[in-house]
Amino acid sequence: MTSTTGIATGDAVADWPDRAAALADELEAAGKLASPAWRAAVQAVPRHRFVPRFYSHRDGSLAAVAADDPATRADWAGRVYANTSLVTKIGGESGSAPVYLSSSSAPGLMTRMLETLDVRDGHRVLEIGTGTGWNAGLLCHRLGAASVFSVDIEPDLVETARTRLAGLGYRPVLAVADGSGGLAAHAPYDRLIATCAVPAIPWAWVEQTRVGGVILADLKAGQDAGNLVRLTRTGPDRAEGRFDSGYATFMELRHAPGTSNLIPYARASDDAPAVESATTLDPRTPLSSGNRVVWFLAALRIGRRYRLGYTGGDDPRHHPDAVSITTPDGSRAEIAIAAGHDGTHAVRETGPVRLWRHVEHAHRQWLDAGQPDWPRLGLAVAPGRQSVYVDDPANPLASLPLPLPAG
Ligand SMILES: C[S@@+](CC[C@H](N)C(=O)[O-])C[C@H]1O[C@@H](n2cnc3c(N)ncnc32)[C@H](O)[C@@H]1O
Repeated sequence: MTSTTGIATGDAVADWPDRAAALADELEAAGKLASPAWRAAVQAVPRHRFVPRFYSHRDGSLAAVAADDPATRADWAGRVYANTSLVTKIGGESGSAPVYLSSSSAPGLMTRMLETLDVRDGHRVLEIGTGTGWNAGLLCHRLGAASVFSVDIEPDLVETARTRLAGLGYRPVLAVADGSGGLAAHAPYDRLIATCAVPAIPWAWVEQTRVGGVILADLKAGQDAGNLVRLTRTGPDRAEGRFDSGYATFMELRHAPGTSNLIPYARASDDAPAVESATTLDPRTPLSSGNRVVWFLAALRIGRRYRLGYTGGDDPRHHPDAVSITTPDGSRAEIAIAAGHDGTHAVRETGPVRLWRHVEHAHRQWLDAGQPDWPRLGLAVAPGRQSVYVDDPANPLASLPLPLPAG
């Protein structure tokens, strides 16, 4: 049973304690949940009450899967207790592709992050990205609601989360705010967890975390370019720490409700002069999941907005001829997947910036640094300056663009 507010009245999933216990077992077996305290939270905070409806692809479009729809109810009950993320709010112009505005992150990602955050009794925690409120519920169970603070840019999400949490007896401080400014009124915090991705760490987060406190956030220099980073505030003007060994990705932080961060792309004219060259780097290498660090370093050079694609033939998705990279200024690089007789790949570039050169540079940087994976990479944050380093802050690899760009 759900009421019109989407709050479960009675209990829509009678056997939810069993389902929550099975989910906790699954997370433990997958190595995403180890501590008894977070296990107890997963078993005590019913996810179905926070996700009475979500959106899923069906027959090529997004359709609601909901507790109050007899046709999808069984599917709904199964998936809210599975280790999957669920899209809960969509937006976008009518007639154009929907954009995802909120989701309930995969439970295993949340528990992994909460454990990485190293929350202790008595800690005060600020969450950026309230969303459904489920993660705030886990924090309330672990710490008591008086120690939990959470903000979201979407007013309706904050109000719904407030009602759902109150339904379980939790009354944390929830606020509608652009979380890039933190929540100064209740600072300082011992821990700050961001469940939306940022291109650089907002300085307000460092200022509002006490010295010795921890910030855990998804740092993305662009699409698929970055990872979770765990920073410790080491002094009044500094935070630093390493990237996480596991990979994660969150939706981007946006500076206004209901918006997406989509921006227009200029189209290079078909007769724009092209520069032809050749590369020894297979274009699939920097894009493969084993080389995410290379793509991160490349995106720091290319800029935050780009599109990656495959071109060629009748079926470019399955049988591509070339990889393409396009940026909003109309720059475009196409790199042939098949190598020629000399082992090189043909490169064709148009527009103001030779994008493939940036990727080659990043790949060389990565090779020279000994092919580091994420845990060897760190981020050093100071007022007006943030740099990515390998092994030690004395070995910087790249700077992040600052100030934090809008939108
Ligand atoms: C992955 S969802 C959060 C999931 C949530 N923690 C949960 O337990 O359901 C990301 C959230 O970040 C929010 N968000 C995006 N930009 C934001 C901003 N500037 N400030 C605060 N929240 C923001 C979105 O509205 C969305 O609800």
